[in-house]
Amino acid sequence: MSGQTPTAPAGERTVLVGVTGGIAIYKAVELVRGLVKDGFQPLVVSTQAAQRFVMPLTFAAVSQAPALDDESAWQASGGWFQHIEAARTARVMVVAPATANTLAKMAAGLADNLLTAIYLAFRGPVIVAPTMNWAMNEHPATVANLRLLAARGVEVLPAEEGELACGEEGSGRMAPPEAIRLAVRRAFAGTAAGPLAGKKVVVTSGGTRERIDAVRFIGNRSSGKMGRAVADEAYLRGARVALVTTQPADGAPYGVVRVESSDDMGAAVREQVRDADVLVMAAAVADFKPRSEEAGKIQRGDREALTLDLVRTVDILAGTARPGLFRVGFAAEAGPRLQRAREKKAATGVDLLVFNDILAEGVGIGADENAITIITAREEIEVPRTSKRACAAAIADQIEAGLQAR
Ligand code: CTP
Repeated sequence: MSGQTPTAPAGERTVLVGVTGGIAIYKAVELVRGLVKDGFQPLVVSTQAAQRFVMPLTFAAVSQAPALDDESAWQASGGWFQHIEAARTARVMVVAPATANTLAKMAAGLADNLLTAIYLAFRGPVIVAPTMNWAMNEHPATVANLRLLAARGVEVLPAEEGELACGEEGSGRMAPPEAIRLAVRRAFAGTAAGPLAGKKVVVTSGGTRERIDAVRFIGNRSSGKMGRAVADEAYLRGARVALVTTQPADGAPYGVVRVESSDDMGAAVREQVRDADVLVMAAAVADFKPRSEEAGKIQRGDREALTLDLVRTVDILAGTARPGLFRVGFAAEAGPRLQRAREKKAATGVDLLVFNDILAEGVGIGADENAITIITAREEIEVPRTSKRACAAAIADQIEAGLQAR
């Protein structure tokens, strides 16, 4: 589902990358490199302001293609003017960084430079990654322009909160290059008609932390990578994704809810699944937690031992059963105990159960690879050791098959 079709003609892989005069343009160099790595052919178009920050030569070098600017607008290519030629060649257009000025021009339909002329002439999916000072970002004019563009089908990757180049804090940082790359892959994949398109998918990931006192917790080594891969895959297939996780989720172009304990995760999941179609419980939720959190820090003093009083946590997955919600559970077993996983599927009533043996070589907790068996209502699909991304694709295939069989 990467949308990669290396055998397709050159134009089939071309992505127009419009760069404008924002300081975040240094990240656009990384974005263009990343797009090349993803198998795309970026065609970079710089505005005049962009060229004051980064020379088109830099983009030509990293994209391994000529980079366009307003000068090139007046050169005919193949009998066509550049803006028409570029718009005809490319399949997807992304503007990153997109300044308030360029966004305003796009919203108004102005075409006073090559980038905006291409935008008007282009008929494929368009993605914008705004970046600017927080006050400019919150200005009613910018808010209205972004709303208008979104209503016309432009995918807006909202600016993030954080420290801004102007030294102030606020919302205005460009979405990270990884998020933009994923959005480009999704646009190329053309997922509008797939079974997951438009569906709300809630995914949990990471190990929960159960507080003992103000500084200590009971946790586990789950890295959250498997859940993250499932969330990315669902996003690529056109789903509306909410990732409820205990881990940072840098570069996720969808909603992320950060939580800490099993209680936090349970509350977030119950809230998110209300209008969801699919729940994937990939998180390693603690089965037990301290009966109560000690105020302050437990002192060592002259204790020789410390006994913790633990109670069961709430079973999040069990509490979410309702008609219309397709549920996926995970069973991490210490050993090849597939039969136990089958019993878990029957006991929990989930639609799919993903079994993995955490003791198997090179897979499981913290690793980039996994080996899983997907237990469905009809069959068991074994996915031998491969990337977590490939495992996620296999899981998404089975979710799609399950949704279609309904
Ligand atoms: N799970 C949950 N809430 C909990 C514990 C687990 O929703 N309090 C979910 C996990 O996210 C996973 C599934 O239940 O999708 C199974 O978790 P796992 O720890 O493998 O199994 P348990 O049911 O806890 O059984 P056991 O520890 O006995 O193997």
